[in-house]
Amino acid sequence: MTAKIIDGTKIAAEIRSELKDKADELKKKGITPGLVMVRVGEDPASVSYVRGKTKASEELGIYSETIVFPEDAKEEEVLAKVEELNKDPKFHGILVQLPLPKHIDSDKVLNAIDPRKDVDGFHPVNVGKLLIGEPFFMPCTPHGVQQLLIRSGYDPAGKHVVICGRSNIVGKPLMAILVQKKKGANATVTVCHTGTKDLAATTRQADILIAAMGSPKAITADMVREGAVVIDVGVNQVGTTAEGKRILVGDCDFDAIKEKAEAITPVPGGVGPMTVTMLMVNTVRAAEMQSA
Ligand SMILES: NC(=O)c1ccc[n+]([C@@H]2O[C@H](COP(=O)([O-])OP(=O)(O)OC[C@H]3O[C@@H](n4cnc5c(N)ncnc54)[C@H](OP(=O)(O)O)[C@@H]3O)[C@@H](O)[C@H]2O)c1
Repeated sequence: MTAKIIDGTKIAAEIRSELKDKADELKKKGITPGLVMVRVGEDPASVSYVRGKTKASEELGIYSETIVFPEDAKEEEVLAKVEELNKDPKFHGILVQLPLPKHIDSDKVLNAIDPRKDVDGFHPVNVGKLLIGEPFFMPCTPHGVQQLLIRSGYDPAGKHVVICGRSNIVGKPLMAILVQKKKGANATVTVCHTGTKDLAATTRQADILIAAMGSPKAITADMVREGAVVIDVGVNQVGTTAEGKRILVGDCDFDAIKEKAEAITPVPGGVGPMTVTMLMVNTVRAAEMQSA
């Protein structure tokens, strides 16, 4: 069997096209969705991520601004800016690009964002609301994974989903999303981590296997059940090309697993394009909520 490739770029484009219609509807009512990003320092990955989010906003007609602080900015300055942005009606969504420099307490900054503007979904209020199934916003990467599954015809309902990874930004929120008694969820979810005794024995039970470990090709073909659906969230740089381009691989051994799985996401081109798209979804939702 050669697996169907789940094309994240194509599914993300589909969602963006639907979203453009929603954004246009809001504009007819005189509302332009607004997103503000706060970046501290010049970390190249953060600069590139913020650039990608700005470009996606422009394509959808979302107004966006980036506020850049120098690397040595004081925590109080960043907190004061977040407070100011909470009150600014131009911005429906606020995103603080992580990681922040070590001298700034990221939790303190994230907790200062108004939960109704927290389009990353990391504020404890949103984490709690997600767990009880009433989120203002779903965190972007896990929401993107759910959409990939639904839109490629692999509804998680009734399936055994095994998630490898329990981070606060991917594994745990994904578990909270997929376990809900709701459409596009209602799965039996197992979450694995470094304390899991026999990882392979657990992953082999998965109808849907989701790898979010940050460990290159850690999931090998023998860990996957014949006919499983595999979603690879991992993005690991394993070198650079002669031209200086980053060589990226996922957490799954794609070439071997694709001969065994029913479907699999590639890296890049799988989960990655969905993350920025779901941020745009949350920004438009924030504008709808705040203008209702
Ligand atoms: N495509 C995207 O848009 C996107 C977005 C976010 C993240 N990512 C990628 O997804 C990956 C995970 O990110 P993250 O932020 O969730 O990582 P993280 O915070 O480092 O968490 C990794 C999790 O995987 C578990 N783990 C690691 N190695 C393991 C092993 N050998 N066996 C079992 N469990 C293992 C860890 O267990 P413990 O808790 O026991 O340490 C931890 O829970 C990274 O490659 C990241 O770059 C991609």
